[in-house]
Amino acid sequence: MSNHVRITDVSPRDGLQNEPGVISTQNKCCLIEMLSKTGVDEIEMTSFVSPRWVPQLGDAAQLASLLAGFKKPAGMVYSALVPNERGMEALLKANEHARDIAGVDQLIDKVAVFTAASEAFTQKNTNASIKETLARFEPVVLCAKEHRLATRGYISCVIQCPFQGSISPEQVAQVAIDLLELGIDEIDLGDTIGAGTPESITRLIQTVVQAGIDISRLTLHLHDTFNKASQCVQAALDLGVRSFDGSVAGLGGCPYASTESRQAPGNIALAALINTISQAGFQTGVDLNQLDEATECATRIVQEARKDAGSVES
Ligand code: HMG
Ligand code: MG
Repeated sequence: MSNHVRITDVSPRDGLQNEPGVISTQNKCCLIEMLSKTGVDEIEMTSFVSPRWVPQLGDAAQLASLLAGFKKPAGMVYSALVPNERGMEALLKANEHARDIAGVDQLIDKVAVFTAASEAFTQKNTNASIKETLARFEPVVLCAKEHRLATRGYISCVIQCPFQGSISPEQVAQVAIDLLELGIDEIDLGDTIGAGTPESITRLIQTVVQAGIDISRLTLHLHDTFNKASQCVQAALDLGVRSFDGSVAGLGGCPYASTESRQAPGNIALAALINTISQAGFQTGVDLNQLDEATECATRIVQEARKDAGSVES
């Protein structure tokens, strides 16, 4: 089994989608450029979702235009969230535009669709049932294949739902099977509210693998509410998971996972993720000095925007 662990930084998407302030497209582009130098394998750069639902990422097309002028390092993957055909059309247009203005062959390489193992959360997040989200993905996946784009399928609330409570690993496995049957390449298991423990994450991965899903197709996406995400990463590494998401400075949270009493938590911080992985004897391509610079950049742009939005003391 390979010693290399694949890292996706989701901060430009998950990290910024719940921020109260307005972050300029220019600052988002700077952050992605800094992240591109860290050696992570993939950067989830934005979402082509409804700007009514997530105004923070309503500049996806403009961001893609700006990024087209930046030389993406060889082998680096840029991905973006897409909820439906409308989002897919916008993503393709962004790629076409990048080709026209800067000769970029494929700016965005991967399409990430998202559903959940919880009906209540899927309704809140996408105004659809799990079954309806899967039906929306069918044309998206076909189109992605036609355009040689890889596909990731997120399953949120793999341990617990903020509205529905505990989720059974069997339910997660069923949604994973449904996504793979649609032709999705990679399954990303999202612990949306950071409820996982090493024990529950172990049970989850074992159940999904016993359902026939190859572990090499799994990524783990942990939010870190109770400081247990690093232990969960360790447990997943022990079972053979070799792909993880994280975000610089631990930014992140789904706006539709917050409840009145609890704000959706941030992702596992990339620095903590990399430390856990190297302490366990595995390798990533991440350069810690470059990661510090990207973390500083993310913290600065978010703090500035929060100050402008009046959500922190100046
Ligand atoms: P809807 O309101 O049911 O859809 O939203 P609609 O078809 O009625 O459209 C409503 C409006 O949005 C219309 O505009 C559409 O044209 C427009 P209007 O006529 O009112 O002006 N619209 C779009 N505009 C741009 N791009 C599109 C698009 N689609 C429709 N793609 C919809 C359904 C899915 C669009 C909506 O619910 C949505 O955008 N949801 C996204 C929510 C979201 O992004 N959540 C955060 C990401 S998921 C997450 O964070 C979890 C994860 O990190 C893993 C984990 O941690 O668990 C991935
Ligand atoms: Mg998330």
